[in-house]
Amino acid sequence: MKVLVTGGAGFIGSRIVDFLIKAGHETVVIDNLSTGRKDFVNPKAIFYQADITKSLDTIFHKETPEIVIHTAAQTMLRYSIENPIFDATTNIIGTINVLEACKKFKVKKIIYTSTGGARVGEPKYLPVDENHPLNPSSPYGISKHSAEHYVWLYNQLCGIDYLIFCFGNVYGPRDNPKSNRATPIFSWKILTNQVPQIFGDGNQTRDFIYVLDLAEFIVANMTKSPEHKLFHLANGEQTSVNELFALLKEFSQTKIEAIHTESIKGEIRDIVLDTRLAQKELNWKPKTTFREGIKETFNWMKENKKLFE
Ligand SMILES: NC(=O)c1ccc[n+]([C@@H]2O[C@H](COP(=O)([O-])OP(=O)(O)OC[C@H]3O[C@@H](n4cnc5c(N)ncnc54)[C@H](O)[C@@H]3O)[C@@H](O)[C@H]2O)c1
Repeated sequence: MKVLVTGGAGFIGSRIVDFLIKAGHETVVIDNLSTGRKDFVNPKAIFYQADITKSLDTIFHKETPEIVIHTAAQTMLRYSIENPIFDATTNIIGTINVLEACKKFKVKKIIYTSTGGARVGEPKYLPVDENHPLNPSSPYGISKHSAEHYVWLYNQLCGIDYLIFCFGNVYGPRDNPKSNRATPIFSWKILTNQVPQIFGDGNQTRDFIYVLDLAEFIVANMTKSPEHKLFHLANGEQTSVNELFALLKEFSQTKIEAIHTESIKGEIRDIVLDTRLAQKELNWKPKTTFREGIKETFNWMKENKKLFE
């Protein structure tokens, strides 16, 4: 099949591209390289440096993809609080623009990548299932969730088939220490002898998921037609930020201690996702344990430190 991946130079998108190529799909990437890297794009993919907020007609006209996997986004929750207009422009207007191109050039299906935590806000119960009420507490949570509505609407109005995958906290090789994500930031700080900063007491919990498990699953399931359309993808395990840091200390053998600073307004306290729907309908079963995945991630950062200097 011919598949177009927006954000295919990014942390998650570039892994999806690798699995698409491995499975023999003709793969096209659109990325403006704002946080992604050209050297992460599989050389067998056709690459366009382009912005999803601008017209994509020329690319879609030339490539006529059958499936679009839309991962391009402004992904930093903290940044979105300071820059809500930029966040909404990329995540909402950018998604509408991608959907307009899908409509015009008769794309059969769009796979939208969303967030399991930020769209919900402070959970009312745990684990959070797909029916949990949505009260996003950040512009990022609102923009990612709004885009889901547009994906749904284009299905109703134009018949574009879709699936929406809402991730836990994704971690793994190729993650960027310039992101808002704890694993690459802590790893980077440890490797460059800086003091990592933990917001709040560090007992806040997240549901971490290894990037390769996620990317492989998306490619294997992109053509399926399950009963539901929106699924949580996570480990279904509650892990604290302190536990994450302790594991990185163990693998790095560092003596550096993190300092604790004020927690960030807009970030939720605890989250763990209920993944039973994806297990039942799509046989979701992550392969990588948190311990194995963090070790791989730290070792990758150690070997690839130069990329981020
Ligand atoms: N990393 C996580 O923990 C996580 C969790 C839940 C959901 N997600 C979602 O997964 C998707 C991928 O996130 P990621 O972690 O790989 O982040 P990332 O920043 O590595 O990837 C985003 C990619 O989109 C590109 N991009 C950004 N704005 C663009 C624009 N206007 N035009 C074209 N390209 C643009 C960037 O250059 C980058 O390559 C996002 O939609 C994000 O919201 C990520």
